[in-house]
Amino acid sequence: MNDYITIALPKGKLFRRSRDLLAQVGWDAEGVSEDSRKLVLTNEEKKIRFIITKTVDLPTYVEYGAADIGFIGKDVLLEENKDVYELLDLGYGKCHLMMAVPEAKVRPDMADYAHLRVATKYPRCAKRFFDSQGIQMDIVKLNGSIELGPLIGLAECIVDIVETGTTIRENKLCEVARIFTSTARLIANPVSFKLKFDRLHGLVQDLQQALEAEK
Ligand code: PRP
Repeated sequence: MNDYITIALPKGKLFRRSRDLLAQVGWDAEGVSEDSRKLVLTNEEKKIRFIITKTVDLPTYVEYGAADIGFIGKDVLLEENKDVYELLDLGYGKCHLMMAVPEAKVRPDMADYAHLRVATKYPRCAKRFFDSQGIQMDIVKLNGSIELGPLIGLAECIVDIVETGTTIRENKLCEVARIFTSTARLIANPVSFKLKFDRLHGLVQDLQQALEAEK
């Protein structure tokens, strides 16, 4: 299997765009779809394997070399902090991590929020942010529907991703601090990148060209 390239694709918002971009440069396999029950799909002719993973687990597959490369958001990379190479900023999947509070709870100064409970899927990024502000907060880790936290009294505020802004708007939350901006990245296992350099380097160049052509 060593002459195969294994590509990890994350379920969710980046899946379709990443799969279609790869197909555009000739890296595809039959049946690669987000709801496929088959989790490993192979293109024998091109010596490519696809695996479809949960978003948050994707960097782990790449770090351990179970996948040679993967497509993942910078937000997940910053949170998971795995030992992987970042080969390319793909530009799509733009979103930002921010802190939000219910509209009625907006305060004039960041320091006024100290000692609140924060619901988040990004505990490490949230802690780094509050530490950098010199603010102590209690962090409650959730795995989804973060906006529910302040609505039912589990937390006073949230640290979460905003893409279109619809979710925070519909839940009457107000952004009070922007933490960082994120886009999709192509990542690689460091050993795979050395051992399979020619094919992976070629792929990076082809993807760059395809993205340029779209502009
Ligand atoms: C993300 C994020 C927000 C929402 C933001 O959740 O956690 O809830 O998207 O997007 P918007 O600004 O376009 O409304 P996701 O859809 O990944 O699901 P989750 O809440 O189950 O984590």
